[in-house]
This record gives sequence, C-alpha cells and structure tokens, in this order.
Amino acid sequence: MMTVHHVPAAGTTLTVHTAGAGRPLVLLHGFPLDHRMWESQTALADHVRLIVPDLRGFGGSAAAVATSMEQLADDVAALLAALHVTTPAVICGLSMGGYVAQHLAVRHPDRVAALVLVDTKLEADTPDARAARADLAAKVGRLGQGILADAMIPRLLAGSAAARGLPHRAAVEETLRRTILEQPVASIQAALGALGSRPDMTEAMRHVRVPTLLIAGAEDAITPPECLERAEEIMPCTRLLIVPHAGHMTPLETPAVFNAAVLEFLRHPPGTLGGAVPPA
Ligand code: MLT
Repeated sequence: MMTVHHVPAAGTTLTVHTAGAGRPLVLLHGFPLDHRMWESQTALADHVRLIVPDLRGFGGSAAAVATSMEQLADDVAALLAALHVTTPAVICGLSMGGYVAQHLAVRHPDRVAALVLVDTKLEADTPDARAARADLAAKVGRLGQGILADAMIPRLLAGSAAARGLPHRAAVEETLRRTILEQPVASIQAALGALGSRPDMTEAMRHVRVPTLLIAGAEDAITPPECLERAEEIMPCTRLLIVPHAGHMTPLETPAVFNAAVLEFLRHPPGTLGGAVPPA
C-alpha cells in the first residue's frame, strides 16, 4: 500500500508515492509515463523505503511542465529533502528517468549512494532524433496523445514471438496506453523539447564513482543494449545485465528478473566484492 505525498519543488507541487522502510530506493519513470510504470516493483518495499515520484509534467505532478533534465534532477533533490530523507539514496531511472538519475548524480552527489540505470543511455540526441521529436510534438498538438501511444507502444515493448507470448503482455500494453493517454499534451510537448536538448553526459559520468547497475532489455529498440555496454566501458564501478525477452520497458516486461537483479545489487554492489572502487 503506497502513501501519497504532495511536496514542494521550485514553483510547483510534486506528487510522490512511498512505501516500506529503511534504505531509500527512488524509482524514476520514463517518458511519457508516470509512477504507475513501477507497479510491479511495489514488492521491493518489503526490503527498502520505496520513493516513486511523478516527475514534473506527469501524473499527479502535471501542474507545471518539464523544461530540462537538470530541472527534473533538482526536483528529485527537493522532494528527497521534503520527505526528510537524510541518507544518500539508491536512484533507479528508466530511459528519461535514467537521464534524470545521471544529472542527479552529477548535480547532487550527496543525494546518491548508488545508481540503477535502466534502458537508457549517456549520449545526447543526434540532430535527426531531435528533429523527429519536434515533428512528434507538432503531431501530438494536432492529433492528441493517441498518436503518441500508437507510435510508441510497439517500440517500447520487445517484438520477438517469445516476448509477445508472455502471459502479461496484453496487460502491459493496456497500462502503457492508459498512462500515455492521461498525460497532458503540453507536458508531452515540453518533455520532448527537454529530451531533445539534453546534454551528452559521457564525460560527466566518467567521474561518477558510485556502484552502478546497468540493466538493458535485449530487444530494446529505443536504447539498444549497446548504449549501456558503452556506459559500462566508461563508468568506473558498474555491473551490466542484459535481460532476454525485454524491450525498453524491462521492469514491466520481466518484473521478476528485474526485481531480483535490483535486490542482488543492493546486497552485493560492484566495488564491495571482487575489488575496490578505483580511487577518485
Ligand atoms: C523514455 O522512455 O523515457 C524515452 O523513450 C526517452 C527518450 O526518448 O530518449
């Protein structure tokens, strides 16, 4: 059972769902979703204090729109302060949430004990990808959120016959569609702009030395596993897991594998077994 909080952040109020006690684990959702994408991770609250915000512009935090990944990271720092979280947290982010987690690690290192970066990347958009986001924002303005759901859902989920045959596949599609249709058009358009203008984090992440788990869906069509393979090469203290039968939504598509990997990482983070974290 999650408790709902409404907490202040610069110029707005954010909705945050929490459950459990102990070590804080923050789950940051992808675009264009909200806290509901983490429903299958609620069981993790038996082990940690789960903190699951709706990022600015989405879900219960839609009173303001997102203008940059930096702003969303500052929001996470603000909500942790508002919730009186005094110890550094484990920050887990999927895709856009992963971009936010990286900025949090760089801008607010005192807030971050460890990272879980899921179906995401360090690099910025190419000029073509940025132009495609601008086109999509204009289309959503003309035609509404349905066009976004239609365009994104087939790319969010793994396409192989084995993945399409997973018993919960229809329920996952339904959750994604419902969630996308409920996000305000202005929020979607603003976030597409913020995603398109996000900086390349490759150099900055070379210096982030907290234990980091990288999780990639083997069939991710949006941020293919090579993105996190590149991150593994440059970040000092990482472990990479590539999950079969998962696309860009690994925590929803393969929740048992995902949850077990996170719990194992919390018990034995890289750098604590089999070698020390290299000196800064
Ligand atoms: C997401 O899942 O958050 C988006 O696909 C991120 C992106 O488009 O870069």
